[in-house]
Formats: sequence, structure tokens, C-alpha cells
Amino acid sequence: MLEVFVDQEELSRAAAGLFASLAEEAVAARGRFSVLLAGGNTPRRTYELLAQEPLRSRIPWRDLHIFWGDERCVPPGDRRSNAAMAHAALLDLVPIPADQIHPVPWDPSPQAAADRYQSVIAAYFAGAPARFDLALLGLGEDGHTASLLPGSGALTEEGRWVAVTRRSDEEFSRITLTPHLLNQSQVVLFLVTGSGKARVLKAILSGSGQGPPLPAQLIRPRSGQLRWFVDREAAGPAAS
Ligand code: 6PG
Repeated sequence: MLEVFVDQEELSRAAAGLFASLAEEAVAARGRFSVLLAGGNTPRRTYELLAQEPLRSRIPWRDLHIFWGDERCVPPGDRRSNAAMAHAALLDLVPIPADQIHPVPWDPSPQAAADRYQSVIAAYFAGAPARFDLALLGLGEDGHTASLLPGSGALTEEGRWVAVTRRSDEEFSRITLTPHLLNQSQVVLFLVTGSGKARVLKAILSGSGQGPPLPAQLIRPRSGQLRWFVDREAAGPAAS
């Protein structure tokens, strides 16, 4: 389902409101809420709004479990890490128990970090289906999402939940959840803003284009909801 918002602020308010509603519903139904946070810049404002009233008081923080859909392989606290951004914008400002925040482990070996994160996720679900209540995702101009990069072997990984990827223009590797795991989520919410994303968003939503599918096109929840929150700039002229 595609929803177009006037601007990033309105989109962020809607995303924060949906996060809060889903958290309340999950905690009421199952006693806990598991969410995969996205990295990059787009979700920052959403995170900031979650840490402010009125949402701050509404959200059952003590029953939330925070994970990440992807992370850069940099030491903890490195300003480039997705976890550092989320802590600054949200997690350091709300009463989530520290042992309910599950960052991608740092390890000099990216594969060891991926293996450890897979174990963290497996331990959380403890044999039940690994089904996150909400997966927040961004979209890159090349069609990547999380750190599922075009041409990456992670795109077709069926057995593993966590994989290592690398961009040629970065000195660090990345850890990403695979489509296999992301597609088990109850709700997948893409947050996309800015005119720079208009071309790739149109290609993804229209299904046009030759060649292999773009990574974001592989995100098709098996039984959950797929929702796109985009602003007018990203939606392009047709939406104005
Ligand atoms: C990352 C993100 C990445 C991001 C997109 C969009 O580690 O950078 O996980 O997938 O969501 O690149 O980034 P922006 O929100 O900054 O445009």
C-alpha cells in the first residue's frame, strides 16, 4: 500500500504514529513488540518524534525489543553506525531496558558478526517463527534496501537470515538481514523521501525495467503487510 505525504515531516509523524499503534497492539496481544530499525538519514525524524510527547508516554517501552535491519561493520559508537544514529535520536532518550536493545555485534570479522547476529535473533524467537512485528526500511537510489545491494549474493540467500555485503566505495563491510527473513515480518514499512528517490521508486512500484529485480523489489512479505510511506518529492510529478 502506497501513502503519499506532503513532506518529510508529515511522513515522519505518520510513521511514528504507526509505530506507536503497532507497538500497543503487539504488546496487548503478545506482551512484546519487536522492531527492526532502519539506518540512513530518512528515519531519523521518525525516531526523534517517538522520543517526544505525546508518543513517548504512549509507547510501552519496557516491552519493546529493538533490532536493526542492517549495520555498517564499524566499532560501536562510530558515528557512521546505524545504531549510533538511533541511540542519539531515540534510544538514549526513552526507558527501553538495555538488554532489550540488540545491536549487530561488532567483530573484526564481518562473517563472525553476521553469525553472532543470527544467533541473537534465533535466541529472541526461541524456536518460534522469526517474525518481527515491524521492519522499517529505507531505499537507496540504486534500489538497495537495508544493506541488500544490487548484485549481492545476499539477495538470493534462502537459508541464512543474516549476510555480509560490501559496497566498492566504502572501506567497511555491511551486515544485513536477508529478504528471506525480512519477508517474514508482520509489517514492512518503507520510508522514502526526496526527489532523488523518484526515479528508483517509480521503477520499483511499476515493476518496469529489464534485468534482475532491484533489491527492494524482493521485499514481499509472505503473509504480512507491505506499506510505502513516501513524500511528494519521491512520489514524483504524478502525485503533485
Ligand atoms: C544504511 C541504510 C540504507 C538506507 C538507504 C537510504 O545503512 O545506509 O540501511 O539502506 O536506508 O541507503 O538512506 P537515506 O535514508 O539516508 O536516504
